[in-house]
Amino acid sequence: MNWLEIDRKHVWHPYNSLPSKTKLLAVKRTDKTKIFLEDGRELIDGMSSWWSAIHGYNHPRLNEALKKQVDIMPHIMFGGIAHEKAAHLSKLLVDITGLNSVFLCDSGSVSVEVALKTAILYQKAKGKEKYKFLALNHAYHGDTLGAMSVCDQINSMHSIYGSYLPKHIFTKEPELGFDSDCSASIKELEKSFKNHHEEIAGFILEPIVQGAGGMRIYNPKYLKKARELCSKYDVLLIADEIATGFGHTGKMFACEHADIKPDIMTLGKGLTGGYMTMAAMITSKNISDTISNSQIGVLMHGPTFMANPLACSVAIASIELLLESPWQKNVKKIETIFSENLKELSKLELVKSVRNIGAIGVIELIDDSYAQEIQDYCVSKGVWIRPFGKLIYSIVAYTISENDLRKIVKTMVEAIKNVELNN
Ligand SMILES: Cc1ncc(COP(=O)(O)O)c(C=O)c1O
Repeated sequence: MNWLEIDRKHVWHPYNSLPSKTKLLAVKRTDKTKIFLEDGRELIDGMSSWWSAIHGYNHPRLNEALKKQVDIMPHIMFGGIAHEKAAHLSKLLVDITGLNSVFLCDSGSVSVEVALKTAILYQKAKGKEKYKFLALNHAYHGDTLGAMSVCDQINSMHSIYGSYLPKHIFTKEPELGFDSDCSASIKELEKSFKNHHEEIAGFILEPIVQGAGGMRIYNPKYLKKARELCSKYDVLLIADEIATGFGHTGKMFACEHADIKPDIMTLGKGLTGGYMTMAAMITSKNISDTISNSQIGVLMHGPTFMANPLACSVAIASIELLLESPWQKNVKKIETIFSENLKELSKLELVKSVRNIGAIGVIELIDDSYAQEIQDYCVSKGVWIRPFGKLIYSIVAYTISENDLRKIVKTMVEAIKNVELNN
């Protein structure tokens, strides 16, 4: 049986049925910002593997870090054991986030679970029984139980899983636009805090860009207000920077747009440069001290592959590479190319709005029926994007060449114009 037949019979793909309802591209290999297909075609990568491959694929520094580590120690349990790579990675994370206490885990969703558990333990350690979270409409924080429960209630999996999910408190999403007036959503937020602060352990949000729940870019003023209210009511601010972190919005972390520090931050995706599954939950010293010095004493979580040395070594190499590179300049250039070239689409009837920030360019259509047609067109022209619903978007590696980026944007624009012409 050829491997594609095996895949079709036995392999479940994300958000899909078995066999897959959508076409799957058979990929043979990747290099830099290119994807090479089994049938000989070559695509420019406009997705950076769901925001993760920030340096492109097969970077020699990252490959070398893994090759070296595999001979030394591919894995070791982390219970009762310490190793240099975990310490070194944690110190780098502390230095760049300004936080203190690092919990390394397997995936973004798991780091969100750990963040929620930590917030509950912190409140408990202070003698408060607070088991609810405040979250935003249009939020996306992952696919595990706790993470799903703080995702948007309508546009996510809430409805499928029904009463399996714990019930939390949701507030109006910040208005679209980095410079938009966000006074209405701030007013709602103030109300939510006033009405619910006694039951909420933390307020979880994706800073500046709500990703999978709508690719919504919003005003840093909202974030500043969120910080202020969390401090006022002793509610922990949990910044989920899994998607926005490591430079995607033009700052190392999106919280920097508002010049605020969260109490807890979650990181993933770009953490290992898109090489391996690893995430981190990082807290202030106050939080780890409060839990550790209380009767509770311990953070009850411990994945088998916690602090995997291979993942740690590639994460260290990725962060060092990022810090040494002119990434701000590269991301700015990407932002300019998206800004200049997506604008013309806003005149089209099919297009609801276009928006971009950092390495992220988004076109929101008026309905979701054209995604497959647009994707097929882009692939036929040698560009890989994967729209979801009404959102046609691209997030690229910071190392992409100007020519390749221009080709991605030009092809997306052409695809949408074609759809408008044909419908
Ligand atoms: C903001 C945010 N949080 C959490 C997650 C979940 O991360 P993972 O897919 O690694 O579990 C994602 C994934 O897209 C995300 O965008």
